[in-house]
Amino acid sequence: MSDSFKALQIDKNDDGQSVNFVQLTEDDLMEGSVTVAVEHSTVNYKDGLAITGKAPIIRKFPLIPGIDFAGTVLSSNHDDIAEGDKVILNGWGVGEGHNGGYAERARVKGEWLVPLPDGMTTAQAMAIGTAGYTSMLCVMALQDQGVKPEDGEILVTGAAGGVGTVAIALLAKLGYTVVASTGRVEEEDFLKGLGASSIINREELSGPAKPLAKTRWAGAVDAVGSNTLANVLSQMNYLGVVAACGLAQGFDLPATVMPFILRGVKLIGVDSVMCPLERRKAAWQRLAQDLDMDKLAALTSHQPLDNVVAVANDLMAGKVRGRVVIDV
Ligand SMILES: NC(=O)c1ccc[n+]([C@@H]2O[C@H](COP(=O)([O-])OP(=O)(O)OC[C@H]3O[C@@H](n4cnc5c(N)ncnc54)[C@H](OP(=O)(O)O)[C@@H]3O)[C@@H](O)[C@H]2O)c1
Repeated sequence: MSDSFKALQIDKNDDGQSVNFVQLTEDDLMEGSVTVAVEHSTVNYKDGLAITGKAPIIRKFPLIPGIDFAGTVLSSNHDDIAEGDKVILNGWGVGEGHNGGYAERARVKGEWLVPLPDGMTTAQAMAIGTAGYTSMLCVMALQDQGVKPEDGEILVTGAAGGVGTVAIALLAKLGYTVVASTGRVEEEDFLKGLGASSIINREELSGPAKPLAKTRWAGAVDAVGSNTLANVLSQMNYLGVVAACGLAQGFDLPATVMPFILRGVKLIGVDSVMCPLERRKAAWQRLAQDLDMDKLAALTSHQPLDNVVAVANDLMAGKVRGRVVIDV
């Protein structure tokens, strides 16, 4: 078997960024204790930013993008990981400063890898991807803060995107009443099929926020930031909890302290990239247990590695519904 493999590579020179498929060998990979035959990857918002060059995600050139992958271990010098193990990688700067998942081979630190949970395939793991794993971290954050189904409605913003769709499916399966905020109102049936009880137009939340508004939500998962998050905060019930993970509208937060000091509202930040290994493992076990795999299939489409740049462009244009698995 030839040891050369196919990879997408981003390079940069004075003319700007170039994105091309290349043939590499394992010598071209970066340091790490475990080499993986990548079976599937996916396209997250951050991958879209990296491939289109819309934000400075890539910190080293040339680099293989792709912040997620799942596959089978080819060789390992790590005590807890053996040849043949099925593994998942999310984050840790992979696809940003370390070669990523849009290649047939990847080499990373063993301590970055999570074992594939029993009963989950590598394709399902990438249908979940960083977006879905972040949704699980958000749901865990709401539960850690004691938000229960009987407390009231849970709002999910950026509902038709990767984080939003998986968050709806997870929350609905756990018995929460979920309201989906979306700009794609034509996706109402799709979002209700995932478990949303109703939808609102995201325009209701996208303008400047009042310090306080009529209370409405017991909890919220926010993938959007900016005015949207400020409006969500102003509408939280007394002691309501918001898990904030995204910036699809913007990274600013034009809000006041009023929801915090008059209603005891809690704003919990969620980061997937440097999340400690034990919490990652817990999140992946919860995904295996709490995510309806039929619903996951309904929100997932598959594309070959050759199409990854087109998918990234579509994602940035807001044309991708749910999750896309890249079959490597
Ligand atoms: N903290 C972390 O570790 C972490 C991990 C993963 C993702 N994220 C962040 O979470 C966000 C969502 O990621 P994703 O993978 O789900 O991306 P995605 O699939 O592109 O979904 C983002 C969704 O946000 C909504 N949206 C886009 N532009 C908007 C705007 N101008 N105003 C209001 N809503 C807008 C859209 O939903 P509708 O079409 O339904 O309106 C879109 O589908 C991104 O900002 C990403 O960087 C953070």
